[in-house]
Formats: sequence, C-alpha cells, structure tokens
Amino acid sequence: MRGPHCIHFTLMPCSMRLLYTSALVVLGVGYLFAMIYVFESHAGHDGKPGLSVRDLIIAYSGSKADTRLETALKGPMASMLPTGERDEIIAWVRRGAKEDEFERTIAPIMEKRCLSCHNGSNPHIPAFGSYEKVMEMVELDTGMDIFTLVRVSHIHLFGITFIFFITGYIFCHAYLRPAWLKCAIIVTPFLAILFDIFSWYLTKVYEPFAWVVMISGVLMGLAFACQWLVSIYQMWFYRLPPEVAENGGVV
Ligand code: HEC
Repeated sequence: MRGPHCIHFTLMPCSMRLLYTSALVVLGVGYLFAMIYVFESHAGHDGKPGLSVRDLIIAYSGSKADTRLETALKGPMASMLPTGERDEIIAWVRRGAKEDEFERTIAPIMEKRCLSCHNGSNPHIPAFGSYEKVMEMVELDTGMDIFTLVRVSHIHLFGITFIFFITGYIFCHAYLRPAWLKCAIIVTPFLAILFDIFSWYLTKVYEPFAWVVMISGVLMGLAFACQWLVSIYQMWFYRLPPEVAENGGVV
C-alpha cells in the first residue's frame, strides 16, 4: 500500500491544486527575475553580446588582460623590446604575475629594456626597480574574491534547495513514465547546484570549469521548466490513463 503523497493531481481537492499552482506561478516569476539578474550581471563582459563561457571565466577567474602594463606593451612601449620578450612578459601577467617567476625571467628583461627610463629618476615615468613597483602597473582582475563566493554559495545552496524541494514535491504527483525519467528530473537540479557551486571555485584554478557552471545552469533551468509545465498541465488539463485511474490514481 502506497501513501497518499503519490496520488495524482486530478484526484486532489481543488484547494490543494490551487495551493500548488499559486506556489508554482510565484516561483516561475522568481525564476524569470533570477535569469534577468544572471544575464545582466555577467553578459557582455568579454565585449560580445550574450552570455558566454568566456563571460563566466571573467566573472569567477578574472580577465587577466587589460592591465596597464600589457596595454603599454602593446601600445606606446611596443618598440622598446623584441616581440618574443614582450610576449614573455604578457604571458607572465596572464599566468598571475608570480614573484618568483618575475625575479627569474621578467626582471632581467626589464633591466635590459626598460630601466634606462623607468629607473625612478623621472617622477612622471613609473619606476620598475622592484616587483612591488612593477605590480602597481599589474592590477590583476582576478574575478570574484573567495569571501564573496562563500557568501553567494551558502545563499544559493539554501535557496535553490527550497525551490527545488517545493517544485519537486509538487512534481511527484505527476504521472510520467518511464519512472526513472521522473526520478532524474527530480534529482538533477540538486546535483546541478552542487556541481555549479564547486565549479565557481574550480574555475579560478582551471578555467574550463566555466563549462560546468554553464551546463549546470542550463540543466537546472530545464528541470525547472519540465517540473513546472508538466505539473501545471496535469493539474488542470490532463486526463489520467484509465489503468492508472483504476489503480486509485497512484502515480
Ligand atoms: C626610452 C625610454 C623608455 C623606455 C626604454 C621604456 N619606457 Fe615605458 N614609459 C616611458 C615614458 C616617457 C612613459 C610615460 C609617458 C607615457 O605614458 O607614454 C612610459 C610609461 C610606461 C608605462 C605606464 C603607462 C601608463 O598606463 O601610465 C608602462 C607600463 C611602461 N612605460 C612600460 C614599459 C616597459 C615594460 C618597458 C620595457 C620593455 C618600457 N616601458 C621602456 C619611457 C620609456
């Protein structure tokens, strides 16, 4: 004997279907606003319209380009050194401008090519005598800081669990075969939010994880849409197959 929670929507009192529908409508509007927010806060950061994986990399890991040093090296200072050495400096900046690498490979280049002018004797020219001085020209954009990520993570983990617990609980009353598909649609958003959030941190270390962020977001959206549409449709417009109805509407 199965419990009443597995009874199909059509056998529920109208009051309960109204409660479920109202909750779904408000959550649906909330989801739309969340999408607008995600789009507005991330889209176009890479200079192209729309939301791309590159935008997510910039959000979580930073762009690492557009430092004053790189801009100068590609612009007014381009003629001061051979392109091979210039590329070496740019590559070092984009790798994160580490101090030990600076001392080993970058400082010698600067001593040879830049210090004749950038030695601090002219106050209008930035001095490059030390790592700290050079770093003033390398204000790296490293994306969202860890504390912000931790704050946003816990809000998302709690919030998304509430949302998908409610929509999944409602969706349990739908009739959908094969049964494994119904289970997959219920479980997917919970797995997706875990993958999503861990990938925010991993994108900082290894940029291709931005793909996992993107794919998890899409899966969450699909699961939400599926649960929403199937539930609303079956609540108000659906006729249960006779064999299920005869079985007491247990789904
Ligand atoms: C012949 C002299 C000279 C040499 C050599 C030189 N610079 Fe400069 N640099 C200048 C002057 C003058 C300025 C300030 C005026 C300006 O911004 O054009 C400057 C400005 C800069 C700035 C600051 C740009 C900004 O955003 O304010 C950077 C960064 C820079 N140089 C990098 C370098 C690097 C790296 C090298 C070595 C590869 C180098 N320069 C070699 C003369 C030089």
